[in-house]
Amino acid sequence: MEEQHVSEVIIHNSISLDGSLTNFQPHMGLHYTIARNYQPDIHLIGSNTVQVGVTLYGNTLPQEEEKDFHRPDRDHRLHYWMVPDTRGLLQGILHACRRFEFCKDVVILVSETTPKEYIDYLTERNYAYHVVGRDHVDLKEMFRLFSEIYQVKKTLVDTGRILSNLLLESGLVSEISLLIHPVIVGESSYNIFGNIRKNVNLKLEKEEIIEKEYIWLVYKIVR
Ligand SMILES: NC(=O)c1ccc[n+]([C@@H]2O[C@H](COP(=O)([O-])OP(=O)(O)OC[C@H]3O[C@@H](n4cnc5c(N)ncnc54)[C@H](OP(=O)(O)O)[C@@H]3O)[C@@H](O)[C@H]2O)c1
Repeated sequence: MEEQHVSEVIIHNSISLDGSLTNFQPHMGLHYTIARNYQPDIHLIGSNTVQVGVTLYGNTLPQEEEKDFHRPDRDHRLHYWMVPDTRGLLQGILHACRRFEFCKDVVILVSETTPKEYIDYLTERNYAYHVVGRDHVDLKEMFRLFSEIYQVKKTLVDTGRILSNLLLESGLVSEISLLIHPVIVGESSYNIFGNIRKNVNLKLEKEEIIEKEYIWLVYKIVR
């Protein structure tokens, strides 16, 4: 029997009309306005998404400086960006993520098999990290940790399909928010739900047309 989750977990994505997460230009202003309006306690982001965001949208990777070794001192109303990264994918580039002005700081979730050199990298730079699971991050355990250590009641998941589909299949998601863009991606589509292996039943909660051409849909997960 799957464990019911007590806190709110919202997957928020911008997609094309044919359900692609990539290969089109999302309306970042709308995407983040909706995300912000949820007033989440944390953002949960996959390591692949951070890597793509830092290397693609961030243009050239900034050189790491002495200030990058310290936790940023930003508005306390901002929230942490939690990133499962058991393989150390972000080693050497995490400072670019930490520099985002809307990020309170980055918190990394690792496992017992994460390379020691990545742990050393995180420690030297004063990143908070947590060991959650043996190989991959244990996702149920991760939410328990969020609740106990960070008093999280609402998580906004803004990630690719790998992490969000795992969460959906594990019964850990309460809501899906989709901002549908007026574009068809076609053959190169990276379908948002492309690797889900069982039906997930939904109840439509909201439908709104924004700026005459974007459609915002919100679904609750039916248990
Ligand atoms: N349109 C949108 O709204 C939107 C939003 C976000 C991202 N994106 C796009 O999505 C793409 C990246 O997405 P993606 O699907 O490649 O990956 P992703 O969801 O960003 O990252 C995969 C995450 O899943 C974790 N993971 C993998 N297997 C796991 C397991 N068995 N148990 C627990 N955790 C596990 C990985 O952790 P480890 O590192 O520990 O393996 C990693 O953190 C990018 O192109 C990005 O631009 C689009």
